[in-house]
Amino acid sequence: MNTKKICTLTLALAALTALPAYASDSINLKKADGVNGGLLYDSFLKKGEVSAKFSNAHNIDVAAIKDKYDFFRCKQCHGWDRIGTEGYYIGRKPKAGKRPNVSSVNLLDSAKKMSAHEVFDKIKKPVNGRSLSTDLTKYDPAGNSRPGDAMPVYGEIFNDSEIWDLVKFVKEDGEDYRNYYVMDLKGVYPNGKVKFAEIGKGGDAANGHKIYAKDCASCHGADGTDIDIKGKSAGEFTRKKTYELAHKVKFGQPGTDMFGTPLSIKEMNDLHKALADKATYPDMKKP
Ligand code: HEC
Ligand code: HEC
Repeated sequence: MNTKKICTLTLALAALTALPAYASDSINLKKADGVNGGLLYDSFLKKGEVSAKFSNAHNIDVAAIKDKYDFFRCKQCHGWDRIGTEGYYIGRKPKAGKRPNVSSVNLLDSAKKMSAHEVFDKIKKPVNGRSLSTDLTKYDPAGNSRPGDAMPVYGEIFNDSEIWDLVKFVKEDGEDYRNYYVMDLKGVYPNGKVKFAEIGKGGDAANGHKIYAKDCASCHGADGTDIDIKGKSAGEFTRKKTYELAHKVKFGQPGTDMFGTPLSIKEMNDLHKALADKATYPDMKKP
């Protein structure tokens, strides 16, 4: 055999061994549950209990993580809008021993550009990742912020199927805030501020009222005040935490009866528009 033939053979062999990996990537992505990915992104523990389809396959000490949970929640570092320090979390300050810095990564756009395999690897074993065994009590944003700010090595927490659910969520199923409102950012992280405009872009409030009556009122009440959301009504939550509503509606609230409601972008805008109306969905009465 001449060198050329050997080269061709080696290339063919390399292609053969590479193929199954990529083929299985697309199968894994197709099989994955993006709604569960959204719930895991939000919170895989609730009140210290396992929530969503989180199997705790590695038998991690849930009680030990509970006190340092903000170092493990995706949304804490990447934000609900998944644009980190360039989004709503531009003003979310870290706290010594308690809460890490928000990441400057724009996950909303970068995850779509990367292959599923790359995203999977970056979640399972990030290059500069932080192991579960890291002592986070010494975290101090002023002097000792690494490795607390680093992305956790989620291969120590989730099994592969859960990581695929997360890949599906960040690549395909996550909401894109740009569909629902405009943000006016002022200043820089961590001292920035955000104002929302055009909440429920071009939405039809009348149709939003119908969606609310059909999908939400049975639990939250006709005017959104039956469930006390840490002192807020459903309308008040929408007006103040606009960046969180679409995620909660689509994926549900982990560890509670609130399941996700699949709505089109137009319907989601209609709902935002309706809930922005303070006369119909008033703030919670303060005691
Ligand atoms: C403690 C903060 C923190 C938490 C919690 C966290 N991340 Fe990250 N993440 C980061 C940082 C910082 C980077 C940038 C890493 C780097 O480039 O070295 C990053 C990068 C990524 C990337 C790669 C993005 C890119 O453009 O290369 C993905 C994907 C990702 N995170 C997904 C997730 C998911 C999903 C979760 C939850 C399961 C999560 N992250 C939780 C801090 C965090
Ligand atoms: C089956 C009952 C049920 C339905 C249906 C339901 N919710 Fe909820 N919702 C809840 C419960 C329970 C909570 C959790 C309250 C808590 O955390 O204490 C909640 C929480 C929320 C939150 C707060 C999330 C947070 O971060 O704390 C919002 C916003 C919300 N619901 C809006 C809606 C909207 C809009 C709809 C309709 C699309 C809806 N819900 C449908 C029961 C429901």
